[in-house]
Amino acid sequence: MSLTSTAQAIASSQAVAGTCPDRLVHAIRTEVRRGLDWPQTADCVARALRASLPEPAAILPAPLRCGDPAGYQSHLLYAEPDGTFSVSAMVWLPGQQTMIHDHVAWCVTGVLQGHEYEEVFALTADGSTLTLGARNLNPPGTVSGFAPPGDIHRVRNTGDDVAISMHVYGADISRLGNSIRREYTLPICP
Ligand SMILES: [Fe+2]
Repeated sequence: MSLTSTAQAIASSQAVAGTCPDRLVHAIRTEVRRGLDWPQTADCVARALRASLPEPAAILPAPLRCGDPAGYQSHLLYAEPDGTFSVSAMVWLPGQQTMIHDHVAWCVTGVLQGHEYEEVFALTADGSTLTLGARNLNPPGTVSGFAPPGDIHRVRNTGDDVAISMHVYGADISRLGNSIRREYTLPICP
C-alpha cells in the first residue's frame, strides 16, 4: 500500500492541470456568494456538485487519469480569483490513501469513478488519541460535504481499479498548496 503525505500529493496542485466545467464553476460560485456559514455552504455546494457531477474524461486528460504508483495525485482544476474556493481532482490507484487529516475550511467531495473508503475520527478529550467514529464506502455518484471542526478523516481506494474524485474547498489551494490544517499520527483507540 502506498501511503502519501498530503504535502507530497499536493505538489502537483500549484498549476491548473485539468478543467472544471463552466456550468459547475458558476453553480459553486452562486452558492459561495450567498455568504452562509461553513456547514450550510458545504451542504449547498454539495447539492450543486451532485446535480452536475462530470465524467472523469471531462475534467482530466487521459494521462492524468491513470494514477501514479508514487502516491495518490491531486490536480488543480480551478481556483476562484477572489480566493473563496478552489476545485481539484484526486486520482488513486488501488490501496493508495491519505494521511489522517483535517481541513482549514469546508470541503465537498464527489466520487466520479471507483470506490473510496472513508474513515472519520474524533480526538479524545485530552487530545492524545483518536477514536474511529464512522466508516463509509463511497461508490461513484456519492457526494459529501463537511466543515471543521470534526472533520478528521482518512480516505483510501479500496477497489480494484483507479478511483477518481472531485473536491471543492472553501480555500484557495493554488495559493495555500493544499487545504490541510493538520495531519494526525496519534494512536487510534481500538
Ligand atoms: Fe480530506
